[in-house]
Amino acid sequence: MAKVLTRYGFEGRNASVRFKPRSYEGYLWRMVRNATRDRDLRVVEPGELDREARENGRDWPADAESMVGLKRLANVRHCLESVLADSVPGDFVETGAWRGGTCIYARAVLAAHGVTDRDVWVADSFEGLPAPDGRFAADAGDQHHVEPDLAVSVEQVQDNFRRYDLLDDHVRFLVGWFADTLPTAPIEQVAVLRLDGDMYSSTIDGLEPLYDKVSTGGYVVVDDYGAVKGCAQAIHDFRARRGITDELVPIDWAGVYWRKS
Ligand SMILES: C[S@@+](CC[C@H](N)C(=O)[O-])C[C@H]1O[C@@H](n2cnc3c(N)ncnc32)[C@H](O)[C@@H]1O
Repeated sequence: MAKVLTRYGFEGRNASVRFKPRSYEGYLWRMVRNATRDRDLRVVEPGELDREARENGRDWPADAESMVGLKRLANVRHCLESVLADSVPGDFVETGAWRGGTCIYARAVLAAHGVTDRDVWVADSFEGLPAPDGRFAADAGDQHHVEPDLAVSVEQVQDNFRRYDLLDDHVRFLVGWFADTLPTAPIEQVAVLRLDGDMYSSTIDGLEPLYDKVSTGGYVVVDDYGAVKGCAQAIHDFRARRGITDELVPIDWAGVYWRKS
């Protein structure tokens, strides 16, 4: 499952084109994208699979359901199997799902263990990241919101679950900005909380409303800790405010997690 969801081992496939904001390539890329938007065409560049990048979630695969890479998917499995083994109650929640691959993987792990009493919550705007709203200095100038590839509709994500026969009543969608959906979401208990919203605001807007629902012995996983400074800052600020000293364990160059004591 992890290899298919990351398209690891699918050699010689096309890769998504990334543009640098305000660069000449970015300008050209936008022109081509706008010209092809309403046609059944995609802008890709030929590329060989970079195994190291795909293992460590360093590239954005053109057609994979997840960009987090094999190591961070293995961490999801580790966390879920650990809470199952220790009977730590609660659901799996991901704040920031993109094409849904990590949530599909979590649902697959639970299905493989025959679990029928835990849900997978898929929280996303399904229209990409918000523009910086001035609340946090760390988000100033953040460009994630101009990345069209980060906007994936909820219908597309549901189709991706169906592709693996994993869309059922145990998969619950929270559509909208985290700040609007999460404070009132009907989530009772969380065993694994996976934060993958990139920015300071998106990290803290996931953590603040959900942390107290994480069971003792449950996990908090932070996808972007090593990749986005604002994300790491949000985690440090939150842990300092709450006096959390549980060890932050690295997963790869970007992801970390801690187990709630
Ligand atoms: C890096 S992608 C997630 C990658 C995904 N976990 C995977 O397995 O590949 C970040 C996602 O977070 C969502 N997002 C970020 N900030 C958000 C916010 N404040 N509210 C709602 N969705 C947000 C974006 O729409 C995007 O789909």
